[in-house]
Amino acid sequence: MASSASALRVLLLVVLALASCASAAAAVAARTPPLANGLSFEFYKATCPQAESIVFNFLQDAVRNDVGLAAALVRIHFHDCFVQGCDGSVLLDKTGSTDSEKIAPPNVTLRPTAFKAINDLRALLAKACGAVVSCADIAALAARDSVQLAGGPHYPVPLGRRDGLTPANLTTILGALPRPTSNVTTLLSFLAKISLDADDLVALSGAHTLGIAHCVSFEERLFPTQDPTMDKWFAGQLKLTCPALNITNTTNNDIRTPNVFDNKYYLDLLNRQGLFTSDQDMHTDGRTKPTVTKFAVDQAAFFDQYVFSVIKMGQINVLTGNQGQIRNDCSAPNAASSSNDELPWSVLETVAETLAL
Ligand code: HEM
Ligand SMILES: *[C@@H]1O[C@H](CO)[C@@H](O)[C@H](O)[C@H]1NC(C)=O
Ligand SMILES: *[C@@H]1O[C@H](CO)[C@@H](O)[C@H](O)[C@H]1NC(C)=O
Ligand SMILES: *[C@@H]1O[C@H](CO)[C@@H](O)[C@H](O)[C@H]1NC(C)=O
Ligand SMILES: *[C@@H]1O[C@H](CO)[C@@H](O)[C@H](O)[C@H]1NC(C)=O
Ligand SMILES: *[C@@H]1O[C@H](CO)[C@@H](O)[C@H](O)[C@H]1NC(C)=O
Repeated sequence: MASSASALRVLLLVVLALASCASAAAAVAARTPPLANGLSFEFYKATCPQAESIVFNFLQDAVRNDVGLAAALVRIHFHDCFVQGCDGSVLLDKTGSTDSEKIAPPNVTLRPTAFKAINDLRALLAKACGAVVSCADIAALAARDSVQLAGGPHYPVPLGRRDGLTPANLTTILGALPRPTSNVTTLLSFLAKISLDADDLVALSGAHTLGIAHCVSFEERLFPTQDPTMDKWFAGQLKLTCPALNITNTTNNDIRTPNVFDNKYYLDLLNRQGLFTSDQDMHTDGRTKPTVTKFAVDQAAFFDQYVFSVIKMGQINVLTGNQGQIRNDCSAPNAASSSNDELPWSVLETVAETLAL
């Protein structure tokens, strides 16, 4: 009796100790949203334990040589997740004759260097572990490391995404990615479709602390009339870069610290020096202005919300388990089987269709 009571006391102490450890760890670790079914932080622990260090080491050198690569990789993960879920479909090359993409859809300016980096990483990971790490996971890890390498927060990435089989069509892309000319009302309605809210919008847009934009993305604020919400000196600077419509020049998204992942983007907005309408309107609209103001003076608050929101974004409509595939080449779906002399999938598909008739 006495011994079972003391055993109980010991057990209780152990439980309390564990609980206090866990809460101390939680206080140190980032605030994270719930995990999607099928994803876990330790997904490759047995099959490719070195996956994360391979990605980080590669990007450390690559970003040192080209700081723009960090911005490009962050943007690719965003486009991947917003358009039919984080399934790596943004990485697929166009196969059909989709000329319509030339009308400058929101993602025409994704940088080829970033697609190449992801394919290079795919090859390194395949060499180390075989075909186990998905392209969608590589994109998520590359975006995470890019943020860190640019001076931003480090955060854990839930892993186990599978790669989709088909790219999205233009209608889907246009319905999923808001234009830079959007106001907050429009932005919130796009984000609501994928269960993201106003705090997610403000924090994720903070990624515009990195990278560049082409004149076409903001020229409607300069011509034919100047957007009155834009700082006049800033407008003058932009007009030097974009003296008329249809110029192909670029400018930095964040005028203060263009290559550092920090909260200066929000200071830009406070000074009416946000580049896109979609940026600046967050400082005009009452639903987002308090958060913009908070992030401008509190970088830790920005980092905390960015981490929460980007992990959430990274789990949108993921394929898991035996859905989709692990692509061998991130820019093309796998052929039926490359390990033997089977016919390519396109041929098999045609045969299958013929048999079904
Ligand atoms: C909320 C709606 C958003 C809109 C309307 C938007 C729009 C744009 C546009 C138009 C560009 C410039 C493209 C060009 O002219 O070259 C751009 C660049 C960029 N965006 Fe966004 N974006 C949004 C959200 C996001 C999110 C959520 C992220 C990531 C978490 C992100 C990360 C970036 C980055 C890093 C760049 C620079 C890319 C580079 O330098 O290659 N954006 N965005
Ligand atoms: C744009 O995004 C879609 C869907 O993610 C992708 O299929 C397409 O290849 C992308 N286009 C370019 C030019 O990157
Ligand atoms: C585009 O893809 C969506 C989703 O797969 C589909 O519902 C739609 O019919 C397609 N539209 C066109 C024009 O192909
Ligand atoms: C936001 O933009 C939409 C679409 O252009 C427009 O219909 C709406 O009136 C705008 N809302 C505000 C508050 O400006
Ligand atoms: C932008 O383009 C114009 C004309 O195409 C060129 O004259 C000008 O030097 C460019 N400005 C910058 C800042 O690149
Ligand atoms: C810009 O280019 C578009 C499409 O190429 C064209 O329709 C438009 O007239 C051009 N605008 C100017 C001012 O040149």
